[in-house]
Amino acid sequence: MDVIIRDDYQAMSLYAAKCIANVIKNKPDAVLGLATGSTPLGTYNELIRMHREEGLDFSLVTTFNLDEYLGIGIDMTKPYLQDQSYARFMFESLFKHVNIDLNRTHVPDGLAKDPTAFCEQYEAAIKDAGGIDIQLLGIGGDGHWAFNEPGASLFSRTHVEVLTKQTLDDNYELFYEKAGFSRDEMPHFALTMGVGTILDARSLLMLASGSKKASVVAKALEGPVTSQITSSAIQLYTGHAIVVLDEEASSELKCKDHYSHVEKVKTQLL
Ligand code: PGA
Repeated sequence: MDVIIRDDYQAMSLYAAKCIANVIKNKPDAVLGLATGSTPLGTYNELIRMHREEGLDFSLVTTFNLDEYLGIGIDMTKPYLQDQSYARFMFESLFKHVNIDLNRTHVPDGLAKDPTAFCEQYEAAIKDAGGIDIQLLGIGGDGHWAFNEPGASLFSRTHVEVLTKQTLDDNYELFYEKAGFSRDEMPHFALTMGVGTILDARSLLMLASGSKKASVVAKALEGPVTSQITSSAIQLYTGHAIVVLDEEASSELKCKDHYSHVEKVKTQLL
C-alpha cells in the first residue's frame, strides 16, 4: 500500500486524477470502479479538464459505481429526470461532461424489482466486463467502503445493506437537505458492492480529505483489520493500493514520516 500525502484537497484530487488518466491511457477500454460523495468531486473535475484540454478519451471506458440508495434511481439514458440518486450524481458530476458511452456506465439499480437478483447480475456484469482495473474509493465517517457498514463481512459480495445513523447524517446535507427533503425521507437501505467485490479490483485508489476523516483514516490504515471499519480490509489487499490523503486527513497517522520516505525513495528508483 502506497500512502501519498499532499498539502490540500486540490493537490490530492490532481494526484488521483492522474492515476486514473494513466490507467485509461495505457488501456483505452479500461474498466473503472467509481465512487460518489464530496471527496471524488475534485478528481472528476480534473478528469473533465483533462478530457477538454488534453483529449483524455473516455469513448471505450466502462464504469461500475460502488453503490446506490434502494428505492431511487434513474434510467441513465433518461438522466433528465430529477432525483437524488447516485446515478444522477454521476451523470451531473462526470458522465455528461466527457465522451463516455452511457451504455457502458453502470450504477446499481436502486429501483430493481428484485434487489437480491440484481446484486447477482451486477457481480456477473463486472466479471463479464473483465473485472475492474482501478477502483476509486472514499471512506465514510464510520469507516465504510461503499456502503459496507460496520459488521459487513470482509468477504461480502454486492448486497443490500442497512445504513447507519451516522451515514444518513453524513449524507443528508450533500444529497437531501439541498433538495428540500426531510431527514425521514432518506432511504435507509442501499445496494452496495461488497468488500470482497472491491478487493477483486486490480488496483485501488482510496481518497480522504479533511480533519473530520483523520481519526477513521488512522484506524483503517494502521488499526486492526475489523469488520467494524470495513475499509480496514485495505490491509488484506494483495494488488496495488494507493491511498491519497490531504495533510489534514493524514494528521493522526503514526507512520506518516515513513510513508513520505517510501514515496521519495520510490521516485528516485523510477
Ligand atoms: P464523502 O463520503 O466523500 O462525502 O466524505 C465518503 C464515503 O461515504 O465513502
